[in-house]
Amino acid sequence: MIIPNPELLSDARFEVKYLDSHQTDAREGEDVIRGLTSSPKTLPPKYFYDSKGSELFERICQLPEYYLTRTETAIITAACEEIVTITGVCELIELGSGNSQKTRLFLSAYESLGKPWRYIPIDVSRETLYYSALKLCHDYPLLSILGLVGTIEQALLQLPPSCHKRMLIFLGSTLGNFTPDETEEFLRLLRQILNPGDYFLLGIDLQKPIDIVEKAYNDNQGVTAAFNLNILSHLNWRFEGNFDLSLFKHQAVYNFEKHQIEMYLQATESHKVRLNKLNLEISFDEGEKILTEISRKFNLQNMITLLAKYDLNTVKFWTDKDNWFALILSQLKATNLC
Ligand SMILES: C[S@@+](CC[C@H](N)C(=O)[O-])C[C@H]1O[C@@H](n2cnc3c(N)ncnc32)[C@H](O)[C@@H]1O
Repeated sequence: MIIPNPELLSDARFEVKYLDSHQTDAREGEDVIRGLTSSPKTLPPKYFYDSKGSELFERICQLPEYYLTRTETAIITAACEEIVTITGVCELIELGSGNSQKTRLFLSAYESLGKPWRYIPIDVSRETLYYSALKLCHDYPLLSILGLVGTIEQALLQLPPSCHKRMLIFLGSTLGNFTPDETEEFLRLLRQILNPGDYFLLGIDLQKPIDIVEKAYNDNQGVTAAFNLNILSHLNWRFEGNFDLSLFKHQAVYNFEKHQIEMYLQATESHKVRLNKLNLEISFDEGEKILTEISRKFNLQNMITLLAKYDLNTVKFWTDKDNWFALILSQLKATNLC
């Protein structure tokens, strides 16, 4: 149960909208039914992120093996002043904002411009979004926050109108969780939603030696395994399920052809599972796997070309010294006016 700080809640600069009512799970559950009745079985990665899943993800970000967060943070630290100089004051919209920790670097840089402005974090993880937004409101006096709890697609389709220039931020290589088709669909949607001159700031994990990547998803402490298994706990509470977590094990392997990590949960014995709220019974054979996430590893030039295909022209990009991660600032072409 959330007990908000009433002093902060009365602040007119803070609002959270719930686009995704957990009571209307009939619609949401459809993707679970589709995934678990397909062959091979799959689950949408958004179901990792209940409050426990978000906490586990924050622990993953601290792991020595998980180079992504610290590499991206170093790039943002070095680039954020320049980005603010390029864009000037603008409304920031962040997809899959999580705890907005890295975004604070931008928020501090924009706050130093000394003008009121707005930040719109979007995330499916309601408690994480709520509490981080509340803290940000407290820490940045010039900032107004409109948190949108829901999926990226829902939120993009329901963005409030704005007469300001906007920058859409998508960090953590979360884009890597989309298949190539989903990525193109997403970019098509961005082209429709953004106004000419608006910015898109994207953080992507780049292709690198496979052992480094595989270690990042198979850490020694087993935090990634716990995060992966938590997707089943989430389904249990949300859809009245009876997944027995001890009957599944974590697996993360690199697919060379597709340049992606594939994260699975593998059944250790044959058994059946029920999700009462979805009126769904699923059978698992021994050794059968559920694909819970892909994490694509990108080629920087290919991504720049793909962005350009959707009229997002790269203004500048930044990488680390090893070329492990990249931050790309692109801008929607002015010719897209009509
Ligand atoms: C890999 S984490 C990245 C978090 C943060 N942006 C970072 O870079 O550390 C993905 C974030 O996106 C959120 N998320 C995952 N799928 C989503 C979806 N379909 N719609 C909205 N948020 C989603 C998760 O709750 C989580 O906070």
